Amino acid sequence: MSTETILVLDFGSQYTQLIARRVREQNVFSVVRPFNIPIRAIQALNPKGIILSGSPANVYQKKAPLPDERIYALGVPVLGICYGLQVTAHLFHGRVKKIKRREYGFVRLNADVRDDLFHGLPKEMKCWMSHGDQVYRLPSGFERIAHTRTSSIAGFRDRSRRLYGVQFHPEVTHTPLGHKIFHNFLFRICRLRGDWTPQSFIRETVRSLKEQIGDEHVVLGLSGGVDSSVAATLLHRAVGRRLHCIFVDNGLLRLGERRRVRDTFRGHFRMNLRICDASREFLKALRGVEDPERKRKIIGRTFIKVFEREAKKIGRVSFLGQGTLYPDVIESVSFHGGPSSTIKSHHNVGGLPKKMRLKLIEPLRALFKDEVRRVGRVLGLPKELIHRQPFPGPGLAVRILGVVTQGRCDLLREADWIVIDEIKRAGLYHKLWQTFAVLLPVKSVGVMGDERTYEHVAVVRAVTSEDGMTADWARLPDTVLTAISNRIINEVSGINRVCFDISSKPPATIEWE
Ligand code: XMP
Repeated sequence: MSTETILVLDFGSQYTQLIARRVREQNVFSVVRPFNIPIRAIQALNPKGIILSGSPANVYQKKAPLPDERIYALGVPVLGICYGLQVTAHLFHGRVKKIKRREYGFVRLNADVRDDLFHGLPKEMKCWMSHGDQVYRLPSGFERIAHTRTSSIAGFRDRSRRLYGVQFHPEVTHTPLGHKIFHNFLFRICRLRGDWTPQSFIRETVRSLKEQIGDEHVVLGLSGGVDSSVAATLLHRAVGRRLHCIFVDNGLLRLGERRRVRDTFRGHFRMNLRICDASREFLKALRGVEDPERKRKIIGRTFIKVFEREAKKIGRVSFLGQGTLYPDVIESVSFHGGPSSTIKSHHNVGGLPKKMRLKLIEPLRALFKDEVRRVGRVLGLPKELIHRQPFPGPGLAVRILGVVTQGRCDLLREADWIVIDEIKRAGLYHKLWQTFAVLLPVKSVGVMGDERTYEHVAVVRAVTSEDGMTADWARLPDTVLTAISNRIINEVSGINRVCFDISSKPPATIEWE
């Protein structure tokens, strides 16, 4: 993709992805790989620098996760973060020991040497620590570059071999000057150019898509969300009319979605767009199904079936384009026994049947969400599309608890539209990660006029989040909650009660299923 790649070796830290993002924010491409990938695979990536992540493990434990030592002989700079620093110390025969009391939270860091990694930084700065082990003795040839009140070695280097380590976490926002440390590592130590920009990404991607696709045709499931829209626009640039977008109305979409997608892509972008009403097929496949995982699998499978059928009608199609993002494909290390347990099967990944007849093409596989938005802006996609809140592949089905029927979909669609409308009216839409309504599988008693009612219950979910991995429930103003509740109960016939979800993720998830 780019000549300048930073390799982040993952030792199982919860912040590994953040490291990759901090690097990319400086216009340098980065990839995350498990700590034990073979040296040959590392050489094939031709990294210009390597960053070792943190880890819940200890370097002195049996079967401690350790990289192939030959990474240090590649001649590229290595920066170890937290456990990563201890890995370098351990492999170069320094001494790492457990400390009496875990150092956790904000710490004042004293930078002892400030001519490369800490260049331009103050002598004292706030940083964030989370460690139970510490380097007690430096390996030979290394010198200390930072300390704290309790850690005599909070940073070290071997300048001649360009090996560095910090005990704190520069990748978290709690280390306010962390971005400067990455900047120094990338530009002073690795001596990179930083030429990975949305423009260069678009150029490179379009070129490689052309090469990969040749004269073949591509189908792409266009949902109207940011990811598939950006993927479609990139593919459209690469192959023009040989891209066939298929919009599947699965009956689980938000109000007015079909019309909006048709106007934008067929009207504005002049793309080949097929609109396929498969709502009956989906609802039939979902009939009687209550289990969330089964719903997801059924929807994923039905999607592919519909695509394949539509693609056949187009003829000569060899590729299926998808807007899969990096966090969905990142191969992270799990220290809790085997691969991380499935919390929810993602529609884009988990729902795919094993025997697919089309080859997958995923132009956004290397990008995080905010990077997709930046690319979308440069591609000239409308602002309101780029900044749309995410909507899950399985759609309303994972917001309708219990069985999914036409009637329940219609009910939720109306309530959901009101939630979004009021949130936009209050100017909050772009401040929130997601806002939507959920329909519960219970009824409750109410009174309307002089009549007793026995109707459905809707829940309003509003969350703030950086990336969807963790989230907090949004403290919506009273006035907004009141307006939402009044309107849903008055305007949506069939709902007589509205609740507000006050759970954060974790331990809850954003979607209800
Ligand atoms: P959860 O519910 O796991 O959701 O906290 C995290 C984020 O992912 C979205 N989501 C999905 N997106 N296909 C998608 O494209 C899916 O199957 C899917 N499931 C959840 C969810 O809306 C939230 O933004």
